[in-house]
Amino acid sequence: MRLAWPSEAPSAGSVLLRPWRASDAHLVAEFAADSYIPTIGSVPERVDDDGAAAWISRQLARAEQGTGYSFAVADKQTDRAVGHAGLSLRSDSGRAVGGYAISPQCRGRGYAKDALIALTGFGWSIQALHRIELYIEPWNVASLRTAERAGYLREGVLRSHQEIDGVRRDMTLYAALRPG
Ligand SMILES: CC(C)(COP(=O)(O)OP(=O)(O)OC[C@H]1O[C@@H](n2cnc3c(N)ncnc32)[C@H](O)[C@@H]1OP(=O)(O)O)[C@@H](O)C(=O)NCCC(=O)NCCS
Repeated sequence: MRLAWPSEAPSAGSVLLRPWRASDAHLVAEFAADSYIPTIGSVPERVDDDGAAAWISRQLARAEQGTGYSFAVADKQTDRAVGHAGLSLRSDSGRAVGGYAISPQCRGRGYAKDALIALTGFGWSIQALHRIELYIEPWNVASLRTAERAGYLREGVLRSHQEIDGVRRDMTLYAALRPG
């Protein structure tokens, strides 16, 4: 079932979450050049103009197909895309899994923290949602810190939880619950 898009762009601090545009292709290339992002998501290691356009189309299709939301994280001042934030919805479970990435060129400026706060606030506008989970590798201090700064609590380490880049990995589970 098609998911409704928010009438107002979710925002926090210096970012807003908006639909992807063809002009965001630069960000797909920046993601592809990162050593980690292609191993954890759907961005290929090598991407040309057609590949970037196809990736953007797939992001737009997620809400259409009812599997979740994929937002471009845009700087509020410039509207330039600096990252990605998404929610994967588990049908009828009341749970979603959050994900985020910031362009290597734009890190360390609070964009991920703001994006996760905006994404989480948006999540609570979905009435059926009660819990948002984050799965983070224990070495990924920047992401662990992002989760904590956005108010998520650490619930434990899931040993050998999933394969990334051909290796079984432990994942630290963080979660936020619907307020009050
Ligand atoms: C994780 C990631 C999204 C963080 O993005 P960012 O915009 O640089 O993060 P922010 O600037 O919002 O920083 C959030 C917190 O993490 C801290 N942090 C950021 N980079 C850090 C680093 N390399 N080492 C330690 N702490 C770091 C910041 O200091 C901040 O904490 P503070 O407010 O207490 O100072 C980014 O590094 C990234 O895209 N990594 C690759 C993809 C990825 O790992 N995604 C998450 C998968 S679970």
